[in-house]
Amino acid sequence: MEMLNVSHVSKQFGEKKVLSDLSFSVPAGSVFGFVGQNGAGKTTTMKMILGLIAADRGEIYVNGEKVTYGQNKTNRYVGYLPDVPEFYSYMTPREYLNFCGEITGMETNKNKSRTTELLALVGLEHEKRHIKGFSRGMKQRLGIAQALMNQPKLLICDEPTSALDPVGRKEILDILVSSKEQTTVLFSTHILSDVERICNAIAFIKDGKIALSGNLEQIKNMHQAAGFEIEFEDSSDADKLLFVFPDGKKRRERNIAFDDVNEQKMMDVLGVVVNQKLAFTKIERLEPTLESLFLEVVSK
Ligand SMILES: Nc1ncnc2c1ncn2[C@@H]1O[C@H](COP(=O)(O)OP(=O)(O)OP(=O)(O)O)[C@@H](O)[C@H]1O
Ligand SMILES: [Mg+2]
Repeated sequence: MEMLNVSHVSKQFGEKKVLSDLSFSVPAGSVFGFVGQNGAGKTTTMKMILGLIAADRGEIYVNGEKVTYGQNKTNRYVGYLPDVPEFYSYMTPREYLNFCGEITGMETNKNKSRTTELLALVGLEHEKRHIKGFSRGMKQRLGIAQALMNQPKLLICDEPTSALDPVGRKEILDILVSSKEQTTVLFSTHILSDVERICNAIAFIKDGKIALSGNLEQIKNMHQAAGFEIEFEDSSDADKLLFVFPDGKKRRERNIAFDDVNEQKMMDVLGVVVNQKLAFTKIERLEPTLESLFLEVVSK
């Protein structure tokens, strides 16, 4: 089932076309990476999903219901962490979540237990300080807790890791993975290693359109062109192979890699390894990395 469907959406601000015929869908239960360079239109798309910006053309469905600009009906399914979250900084995290529960009409006991549960999920259960003393990472964690408060079916996070150091990023990614138990996760980013770490499906946005989307494993398989790498026992054997195949790339002393080769080429290379009795310790297929896919997409 699809939790989110964005269908043929276009948007321009004045003369500037930002989205043109943008379509993608997010399967229920997935951790979905929405990837694009600065200014690609990620935030604009997310605000449209929330009904905060009107699309010029196209339709958006959340949990099968059509999003209407200016109405918040479909937002009962959605939790949202904006790119720069704002809080009442004089509150403690517990007070803040309680407050969020109250203004959405949550029953008192439910509010208490949900707050406790979510503070534990984001690792702030023992934090007594006021939010004004929080680091960026702590604020992002609190923001995710707030977005999850009403048990949304779809959690939307706009670049939740971009401003954080590697430790802070890992904490957020871990939280997103554990939220997968309760909700579908859509997050935007330009950090490909984050996507590679936790997403099972992605969409790359480029020039206002989706350049590539779908299940990450399937996408990688589709682009299996990739290559392989041979590690030799000593560097003289590596050099012998390089003499026959100057297009091989020497990596470190004893490794030769061939990128983007077909089966025949691989057989030719292995034939020479066998015939010349070159002693190898390892032959490895190279998977395409998300980075190589991304570069392939953006260079088209
Ligand atoms: N209200 C607006 N009025 C005019 N132009 C806008 C408006 N909002 C966004 N834009 C433009 O639309 C384009 C897409 O912006 P958007 O914020 O959606 O990109 P983004 O992918 O979120 O980028 P970033 O990675 O920097 O957050 C940008 O060129 C931006 O300047
Ligand atoms: Mg943005």
